[in-house]
Amino acid sequence: MTKKSAIRQVHQHVGETVTIGAWINNKRSSGKIQFLQLRDGTGYIQGVVVKSEVSEQIWNDAKSLTQESSLYVTGVIREEPRSQSGYEMTVTNIEVIHLTENYPITPKEHGVDFLMDHRHLWLRSQKQRAVMVIRAEIIRAVQEYFDTNGFTLVDPPILTPTSAEGTTNLFHTKYFDEDAYLTQSGQLYMEAAAMALGKVYSFGPTFRAEKSKTRRHLIEFWMIEPEMAFTDHEESLIVQEQFISHVVQSVLKNCRMELEAVGRDISKLENIQAPFPRISYDEAISFLQSEGHEISWGEDFGAPHETAIAEKYEKPVFITHYPAEIKSFYMKPDPNRPDVVLCADMIAPEGYGEIIGGSQRIDDPKLLEERFAEHGLSMETYQWYMDLRTYGTVPHSGFGLGLERTVAWICGLDHVRETIPFPRTLYRLYP
Ligand code: 4AD
Ligand code: MG
Repeated sequence: MTKKSAIRQVHQHVGETVTIGAWINNKRSSGKIQFLQLRDGTGYIQGVVVKSEVSEQIWNDAKSLTQESSLYVTGVIREEPRSQSGYEMTVTNIEVIHLTENYPITPKEHGVDFLMDHRHLWLRSQKQRAVMVIRAEIIRAVQEYFDTNGFTLVDPPILTPTSAEGTTNLFHTKYFDEDAYLTQSGQLYMEAAAMALGKVYSFGPTFRAEKSKTRRHLIEFWMIEPEMAFTDHEESLIVQEQFISHVVQSVLKNCRMELEAVGRDISKLENIQAPFPRISYDEAISFLQSEGHEISWGEDFGAPHETAIAEKYEKPVFITHYPAEIKSFYMKPDPNRPDVVLCADMIAPEGYGEIIGGSQRIDDPKLLEERFAEHGLSMETYQWYMDLRTYGTVPHSGFGLGLERTVAWICGLDHVRETIPFPRTLYRLYP
């Protein structure tokens, strides 16, 4: 049997005969030549079948191939500057594995619901594949940043007895005789880990039973959550902007073809280099009011507000120092102005919304106890979290990056449903 090659490796086999396991993406014929558009998941290549150079059997096999039929195709790899991949295969043999009939996703336009019902097949399309490759590169670059900057990867639990981000959108389940919830955020556990390991990060799924049907909300999404002991709010912002710059620059370097396949304007991403602009919540409110938005101090921002603010900048922007009352119980008040907290949301450019939420955490045990009472949270279930303040409390900060919103921004997608292989949205659990 001849040597096997993945399509992305064909450049190593110019002039050689190799076999590729592939699917038919598309096919053209000009009477005496058939052009097979082949895909194997790693890339795309054209296979050229010349009638006068193959047996009648092979010619007819080639003719029988339909969209998404699977086959082993053998041939000689040639350089072909006119083709998109730079290479072509002159086909010498075809072994049909399966002839597909009536593949539902044809090259014509389909509606979103139809595509979502066929998500398991839609993933094979060029654009969807490119998004998955970019998502994987983002995850790789995230881990590279933290692994090379002194952070240790720690996995928080998924089944939890308490809430981390408010009690209104918890997914409830039974844990034998007890009540349990799917995690909304690993943060509280990451704070414990930071006290044990210094600088830590997690990467895992999180769940929010949010009844919001927007372009930015998923029920199940993946979060990266770093937590740093002996680190204040300002120092955390510096980590955040360096981290995001690293991720964007890595995608630019390693995913050129995929960015092209999703039609991304690359010049916009090239701008993404630290430092990022910062404005306070107060300044953001004044700006929005001056632009005619009806919003007053103490209200949270909605998508149109975030977009209006982001439009002023070419880079992500930090909005800092939100009112304590609209943020989570664990955020540390600004010592100079206790009605606001030491926090920041990072808003992506071009209207992609909040990608990071972060803050310095309350380190004073008394204040934390007060907050539990104010928020009606039972001290019993959070006793372990209090212990982190009782035994050697330190200033510490952390943040959470939403992976899917980051993918949407970097790929320029207008909805998060295309950023994850099998999205869980308000009305969709299938496939
Ligand atoms: O701002 P959030 O709620 O912050 C936390 O959960 C903190 N405990 C993180 C921390 O400090 N360790 O969520 C963080 C990010 C958001 O900025 C957003 O990017 C993403 O998670 N996110 C969602 N993404 C998709 N669908 C949803 N329903 C999301 N909710 C939050
Ligand atoms: Mg948030």
